[in-house]
Amino acid sequence: MELHYTFFVMFLAVIDLVKSAEDCPAKCTCHWDDGKVECSNLNISSLPVGYKNASLVTQLMLGNNLLTTIDKNVLKTLENLMFLDISNNNITELQSETFANMPHISEIVLRGNSITNINTHAFLNLPNLRNLELSKNRISNLQENSFINLTSLKMINFENNKLTELKSSPFLNVPLLSVLFLGENNMSSFPVGICQSVPSLQSLYLDNNNIKSIGEFALDGCSKIAKLRLINNSLQTVNKNAFSCRRQSENKNDFCLEKLTTLFLNENNLTKPPSAFGAKSYVRELDLSKNPLKSASINDFTGLPYLNTLVMSYVPTSFTIGDSAFSKLESLTKLTLTNNRGLKNMSKTAFKGLQNLKYIFLENNSLETLSFDLLNWQNLVRFDARNNKLRCDCAVKWIQDKKMTLNSQVSSALTSLKCTEPKTLKGKLVVNVNPSYFGCPIDDEVSSRVKTGLVVAAIVCSLSIVCLLFIKYRRMIFMKLRMYSYRRHRGRCSFYCRQ
Ligand SMILES: *[C@@H]1O[C@H](CO)[C@@H](O)[C@H](O)[C@H]1NC(C)=O
Ligand SMILES: *[C@@H]1O[C@H](CO)[C@@H](O)[C@H](O)[C@H]1NC(C)=O
Ligand SMILES: *[C@@H]1O[C@H](CO)[C@@H](O)[C@H](O)[C@H]1NC(C)=O
Ligand SMILES: *[C@@H]1O[C@H](CO)[C@@H](O)[C@H](O)[C@H]1NC(C)=O
Ligand SMILES: *[C@@H]1O[C@H](CO)[C@@H](O)[C@H](O)[C@H]1NC(C)=O
Ligand SMILES: *[C@@H]1O[C@H](CO)[C@@H](O)[C@H](O)[C@H]1NC(C)=O
Ligand SMILES: *[C@@H]1O[C@H](CO)[C@@H](O)[C@H](O)[C@H]1NC(C)=O
Ligand SMILES: *[C@@H]1O[C@H](CO)[C@@H](O)[C@H](O)[C@H]1NC(C)=O
Ligand SMILES: *[C@@H]1O[C@H](CO)[C@@H](O)[C@H](O)[C@H]1NC(C)=O
Repeated sequence: MELHYTFFVMFLAVIDLVKSAEDCPAKCTCHWDDGKVECSNLNISSLPVGYKNASLVTQLMLGNNLLTTIDKNVLKTLENLMFLDISNNNITELQSETFANMPHISEIVLRGNSITNINTHAFLNLPNLRNLELSKNRISNLQENSFINLTSLKMINFENNKLTELKSSPFLNVPLLSVLFLGENNMSSFPVGICQSVPSLQSLYLDNNNIKSIGEFALDGCSKIAKLRLINNSLQTVNKNAFSCRRQSENKNDFCLEKLTTLFLNENNLTKPPSAFGAKSYVRELDLSKNPLKSASINDFTGLPYLNTLVMSYVPTSFTIGDSAFSKLESLTKLTLTNNRGLKNMSKTAFKGLQNLKYIFLENNSLETLSFDLLNWQNLVRFDARNNKLRCDCAVKWIQDKKMTLNSQVSSALTSLKCTEPKTLKGKLVVNVNPSYFGCPIDDEVSSRVKTGLVVAAIVCSLSIVCLLFIKYRRMIFMKLRMYSYRRHRGRCSFYCRQ
């Protein structure tokens, strides 16, 4: 019985093999129910051929093979192809019209090849192409109009290539292109004016390049840009009009780049925050971590009335925060200043004017003190300042006083602060320090209490003296009183009194 069954299964398998050998290119597996042709990992060196009906192919998977060129005549026969994966092959160049006249193609993946050059009209007449994956190649050259009339294109990924600049000439009529990945290239300049040819740009990723500056009106016309990332470049100068628009409106209060909300400038070479936001911007999140900042002061943060989140962490240099430094950031809700070992000294008014501040993180800096006046403690939802270099003197004694009604997290974060100085108190919780060790002079409050006490004592003393005197001399006083009364009555009662 079992044997029969085994033979039956084998028979079916043979039938299947014959059938797929008929319908499907050699070595590949075809799933005709959804039109998927699977030819990955087969050491194939050219586009597979031999379909019974090529127009049934909708997805062709050719990852991890040995293709060096793409035969456009074969590609042309796959008239209903929607998804093409040729990742991790050995394609070196994309000739003109390599991908042309494919009405349904929506995504082409060419990640991990050896492409150095993309020729004019390499992608032509692909009205449904949405995503183009070109990462991990050696592209150094994009010829004019290599991306023309791609009216559905939304995303191009050029990450990890050898581009040294991005000119606008490769792009023409790409009205929906909104996401451009350009990280890990060798770009030394910002693609100034990119939105002249890519007007719908929403996200521009330029991480891990070698960009040293951002020029004037760099994002001019980028009315849809929302996110700009420039992590790990060599930014040293940001033009004061970098994030302004060329056409200045009459009304100075007008916003430009009205969708730009997120700006990552971490791991650069900035010595101060860029004041490059024109009159006003809509930026809500700004990250300046890992820049060799020297100072942050009130004039560095202008034109950012909507900034909600600011991060300045892992600053490797010694830096200071000046008087009212953040006071123009009227919407600031979350401020992260952590792991700045060079941050010792901060103006007492550094956070003045931050009406909306709810989250503040100050861990792992080298702050030596924490003034009560620094923050509006009652407004905070989260606070952390562990691992600083607190000097436990009179300036931090307020931490022991539990007069405020604080959010429980804030209150426990204050309770967990430890002293670093003086040596005798090192490692001790501030709240556990014997109050007399803080060395506070008798402050006004105490002395006024003492004064009140003295006055009360004086009054009590004088009253008791009066009482004692009264008790001691009470007989004499009563006798005198009686004599006085007798003398007054004597004249009037001559008749009865004598009785
Ligand atoms: C592909 O080629 C490599 C190296 O020549 C070999 O080890 C591997 O078995 C081949 N794979 C297939 C599916 O033929
Ligand atoms: C191939 O498939 C298409 C689409 O299903 C169909 O219109 C066409 O008739 C088929 N051609 C052949 C030769 O079977
Ligand atoms: C890719 O092609 C180049 C020549 O164009 C050749 O030198 C190289 O060995 C090929 N790489 C692989 C993995 O086949
Ligand atoms: C691009 O589109 C425009 C307008 O639709 C058309 O005139 C032009 O010939 C197209 N260019 C190419 C190379 O297809
Ligand atoms: C990067 O580009 C510069 C020229 O701008 C060139 O000298 C350098 O060799 C390039 N680096 C790499 C890794 O390609
Ligand atoms: C920063 O970018 C350089 C290339 O510009 C790269 O070599 C390095 O690995 C990057 N560093 C990190 C932490 O990604
Ligand atoms: C950073 O800027 C300084 C000058 O401020 C310059 O000497 C240094 O070479 C720059 N570093 C990098 C990685 O660009
Ligand atoms: C801290 O900075 C203020 C100015 O903001 C300065 O007056 C003071 O001397 C500095 N203190 C230390 C210990 O550096
Ligand atoms: C502070 O430093 C400690 C130890 O070096 C680390 O575990 C912790 O994650 C750091 N905190 C932050 C917020 O980075």
